[in-house]
Amino acid sequence: MTEITDSKAWKKLVEHQKSIQATHMRDLFNQDPNRFDNFHLNFQDLIVDFSKNKINNHTLKLLMDLAREAKLDDWRTKLFKGEKINFTENRAALHTALRNQSNHPIMIDGEDVMPKVNNVLDKMAKFSEDVRNGDWKGYSGKRIVTIVNIGIGGSDLGPAMVCKALKSFGHPNLKPIFVSNVDGADISQALEQCDPETTLFIVASKTFTTQETMANASTARQWLLNHFQGNTASIKSHFVAVSTNARVVKEFGIDTENMFEFWDWVGGRYSLWSAIGLSIAVYLGMDHYRKLLAGAHEIDQHFLETPLKKNIPVILAMIGVWYINFFNYNTHAILPYDQGLSLLPPYLQQADMESNGKFVSRDDEYVSLHTGPVVWGESGTNGQHAFYQLIHQGQDIIPSDFIIPMRSQYHPNSEADLHHKILFSNFIAQTRALMMGKTENEVRKEMFPTDESYGKLEHLVRHKSFLGDRPSNSIIFNELDPKTLGRLLAIYEHKIFVQGVVWNINSFDQWGVEYGKQIASMVLPELSTTRATEAFDSSTNNLINNFKKNT
Ligand code: F6P
Repeated sequence: MTEITDSKAWKKLVEHQKSIQATHMRDLFNQDPNRFDNFHLNFQDLIVDFSKNKINNHTLKLLMDLAREAKLDDWRTKLFKGEKINFTENRAALHTALRNQSNHPIMIDGEDVMPKVNNVLDKMAKFSEDVRNGDWKGYSGKRIVTIVNIGIGGSDLGPAMVCKALKSFGHPNLKPIFVSNVDGADISQALEQCDPETTLFIVASKTFTTQETMANASTARQWLLNHFQGNTASIKSHFVAVSTNARVVKEFGIDTENMFEFWDWVGGRYSLWSAIGLSIAVYLGMDHYRKLLAGAHEIDQHFLETPLKKNIPVILAMIGVWYINFFNYNTHAILPYDQGLSLLPPYLQQADMESNGKFVSRDDEYVSLHTGPVVWGESGTNGQHAFYQLIHQGQDIIPSDFIIPMRSQYHPNSEADLHHKILFSNFIAQTRALMMGKTENEVRKEMFPTDESYGKLEHLVRHKSFLGDRPSNSIIFNELDPKTLGRLLAIYEHKIFVQGVVWNINSFDQWGVEYGKQIASMVLPELSTTRATEAFDSSTNNLINNFKKNT
């Protein structure tokens, strides 16, 4: 198999990188007064400004050639058609079917999946309405006020992020709580906030065998049964399941009538669009949940139909490839300027790192390139007072995405308005400072405004200077509402997919998380024996034996 590094576009990009490397982004802006016009895209009210990147028209042309040489068009078609592109698990990756609002048939193994997708959506609608309007009662007849979603990874991060992001759309009398960590502190702290008679547990697990989720669900079930004197009939009113595995759901004691189904062609990290989004539907209401799906569907259509150079996920993906593979910038920061989006960085961490953290290609060979970046971040302005120092003056260049609504969800009174103006000005300031930098001469002018003061404290000049030339994308939109959030998330999903295509990896499996699970299952029984362990290496044995001595 020829590698992407052998492609014509790749070779040209290597040469092009050498020629553009020394050009400061300031100069790119000076050379082209219309740089914003030339390097931004719109989708409805969403604006993606990618002008603050080390690119020119030729860069983009070569990056699009590269995408074509990687056969992006074919892969995109395979993704949407439901071909089993997750070949190591023999599965399709059809999260797009879950939000297929145009409802055209989508076939897997000769079966149109849309009728069952729609049935589950209808079941979710009925259930969420019943909980929201109080028709669904707890065992003692009281209405539900707390919804505890028990899940981990994709069965937690998406719903938790969306419920937080869209809190202003949430039901005023419902409180969503998310429990994921197997550390007993997580479920204990959640249960402290709950009354068994008014709490609904949503056990969300694709496999229904995940150790953390099953341990937390068992603790919650016991807590409920303790309250109802062991009466197992109470479970039906307080537990529902979201899973692909009806048999295990039943074994756990949840009636399959109270199970919301999804399918093996929905990857965990792409599952908030499936019944895993049940906590979202209950908290925000089904109408808002459907708008979230609709926003994602709009981007699916955009991704499928728009020429590469006007295609938002493609542009963002290829700029990412440019930095990772041609500049060796191997991390990527997600910096939402919206407190509601504070869980977006961990959500995208899973979406990206679990998808593209791969070292074996689709041809079963070791990949010779850097693949997925380390994705990290924090909401602004908090991050400014933590790690931005390194982004501005550290040795590593960190391409960043700044994401901000133009209006706050928390509707404007004059004070909220002021908060938002302060927030917006900080976002603008950061992206400009990163791009422009501040030369030593500019620092001198600021420090020594008069001739007399000139030269005093000269030793500080370099410390106060900024090299700039640090890339960022700005994604702005009117307001963070369900549709906009759906669009945003789908943009990132397709960006990640495009990068996986270029690197020729399978973005839809996650074998890398299995080995740790396997060792944990060998260690767990060791922790309950009294004899000293000798089964492992000396570090591992001693860590285990110290645990035993101290528990
Ligand atoms: O971390 C591995 C993983 O399989 C994720 O892909 C998934 O989102 C998570 O575990 C939870 O899995 P499940 O939904 O089966 O409990």
